[in-house]
Amino acid sequence: MSSFRLAYKFFLYRLKSFRLHGIHSPFVFDLYHQAICHDGTYMAYPVIERLRAKLKKNKQEIEVTDLGAGSRVSQTYRRRISEIARISAKSPKYGQLLFRLINYFQPRQVLELGTSLGLTTAYLAAANKKAAITTFEGCPNIANHALQNFRELKLKNISLIPGNLDQSLPDFVANLDQIDFVYFDGNHRYESTIRYYQRCQQKHTQNSVFVFDDIYWSSEMEKAWKEICRDPTVTLSIDLFQVGLIFFRQKQPKQHFTLWY
Ligand SMILES: C[S@@+](CC[C@H](N)C(=O)[O-])C[C@H]1O[C@@H](n2cnc3c(N)ncnc32)[C@H](O)[C@@H]1O
Repeated sequence: MSSFRLAYKFFLYRLKSFRLHGIHSPFVFDLYHQAICHDGTYMAYPVIERLRAKLKKNKQEIEVTDLGAGSRVSQTYRRRISEIARISAKSPKYGQLLFRLINYFQPRQVLELGTSLGLTTAYLAAANKKAAITTFEGCPNIANHALQNFRELKLKNISLIPGNLDQSLPDFVANLDQIDFVYFDGNHRYESTIRYYQRCQQKHTQNSVFVFDDIYWSSEMEKAWKEICRDPTVTLSIDLFQVGLIFFRQKQPKQHFTLWY
């Protein structure tokens, strides 16, 4: 999608989104005020941001195996760590949003599809040390750097699964009883997003939370997001523009919110 179309989509989002006054959904009201818009700080934030600043200065070049649709800016197969930290990693604002979501819902079984250098993984892991965080990365050199970063941050509740999600995700999910939280940030293509969603959806509970990254990044991603929102098992969807959240809570009518974040 061109920058112009993305700006247009953002303009539409700006018109549609609201700040949640007078909404008769206590669940969404509380989630919005306690987790989404909470502007307090946590001790983990500066620690992870110091690592991000260091990675953004790292000029080391590595060979990148690109398995996804995420390299709109750079098509080369050699990239600097600084460039990966700048372009691929989710910004502090969204890393911290994910931290607060984990802190709020306290999920135990957390998956992240697409690790990159592990900055967002670090937010997921630091938010609940009792949670088991499993993160998937297809590029071996990037995965090695992520593992180094987890050691540096002394985060012990992360397992990194290397390899292509097309193979690694079905094998992993097959051995789980349930999945509490998933952050989809790997292959940004329609078909893969739907396939990974369907695989994780098989192990959802009524308390599971799935977060989709870059739902307007391309027409394929937008199509996937809209289709997932229409899934009959999804009872609540929240569009925050850069990310979309879905819930499977029973005993509530199907609802969709576009909220300002
Ligand atoms: C946008 S980055 C992830 C950013 C990370 N979640 C963060 O916020 O810091 C996407 C990552 O997914 C990986 N990826 C893309 N397609 C994949 C696939 N099919 N299997 C495994 N990893 C994949 C890429 O190598 C890349 O590192």
